[in-house]
Amino acid sequence: MSETVFITGGAGFIGSALVRYLIDSSDISVVNIDKLTYAGSLHSLGSAKHSDRHHFHREDIVDGPTMRRLVEKYQPDYIMHLAAESHVDRSIDGPGEFIQTNVVGTYNLLEVAREYYETLSSERKARFRFHHISTDEVFGSLGTSGLFTETTRYKPNSPYSASKASSDHLVRAWNKTYKLPVVISNCSNNYGPYQFPEKLIPLIIQKALAGEPLPIYGKGDNIRDWLYVDDHVKALWQIVTRGVEGEVYNVGGHNEKTNIEVVNTICSILDDIKPRADGESYATQISFVTDRPGHDRRYAIDASKIEHDLGWTPEQTFESGIRKTIDWYLHNAEWVAKVSGDYDGSRLGSQ
Ligand SMILES: NC(=O)c1ccc[n+]([C@@H]2O[C@H](COP(=O)([O-])OP(=O)(O)OC[C@H]3O[C@@H](n4cnc5c(N)ncnc54)[C@H](O)[C@@H]3O)[C@@H](O)[C@H]2O)c1
Repeated sequence: MSETVFITGGAGFIGSALVRYLIDSSDISVVNIDKLTYAGSLHSLGSAKHSDRHHFHREDIVDGPTMRRLVEKYQPDYIMHLAAESHVDRSIDGPGEFIQTNVVGTYNLLEVAREYYETLSSERKARFRFHHISTDEVFGSLGTSGLFTETTRYKPNSPYSASKASSDHLVRAWNKTYKLPVVISNCSNNYGPYQFPEKLIPLIIQKALAGEPLPIYGKGDNIRDWLYVDDHVKALWQIVTRGVEGEVYNVGGHNEKTNIEVVNTICSILDDIKPRADGESYATQISFVTDRPGHDRRYAIDASKIEHDLGWTPEQTFESGIRKTIDWYLHNAEWVAKVSGDYDGSRLGSQ
């Protein structure tokens, strides 16, 4: 019998890539739970949306009784928890939603999973995992050297990263106290198709094509470690199916770039494949703006544990992944228009 995975946040950027991957390349059944906030859209699911192995429910993870009913109904082999408020700038303007969804929502799911786990046969108990999908931002900021490992001390700086750190701690505690078999993964910045246009890479592509200024926070020298979303999704599937109970896995792309390098790369690829009518470079649109409050300086992941234990390595380099991403946005303006809703690309979280 084919397995069933209960995915929260499956209409978001990473969740929809995971749903598309599982529907396209396996015989797994997917139960997709998503509130469809501004960041979620069924348009991100492509043809997976029509599969008879895809069961969508528009629900809020904060609603415990509904989560309990759905878990009992579908009897999942795995729970993969991705639903979250995910944008740092929005967490600066309105942290309340981040506490509700990321902390209270995770607590609800843990309680539902704990009760459900007790009803399973010993064979199904051995396979079951509650996989919490988290971020490297929980570790705070690095100096010019060093990498985040699975044992790096937590030091979150934004309301977003503090809410994710809180949920990581809850997940760990439910393993230590109640023996719920959990795995946690902390991943670096993702990019790729279907990312909501408020995030750096799609924002810059959209603004470049619209002839608008390309806003760079501070001097553009903050460093992120970029991972192509489909590589992340493959890592997640390895972790939930083969990861050891109670373990943490860091996931990263070995692609440290300053923000200004990322923006210059986007500009030069666009200059190449979609030159501006006036012959000028898109880089002339770059505009430095006041930095984000509490802006972490540098993130970089040591991914040697997942490479060694689970044999996962990223397939895309930044150069190959960014070309695929730009190409996708050039051919999917309709998706951008459909999901953008009230978001007009203006600055958030500047306080
Ligand atoms: N994007 C990244 O670079 C990155 C990196 C590391 C980890 N993560 C983590 O991965 C997960 C997914 O990130 P993403 O970039 O796809 O986020 P996203 O914002 O694109 O998607 C989040 C999804 O969760 C849904 N959601 C929000 N609140 C909900 C609620 N209360 N109930 C049900 N659904 C709700 C939204 O509708 C949306 O579809 C998050 O937990 C995030 O912290 C993201």
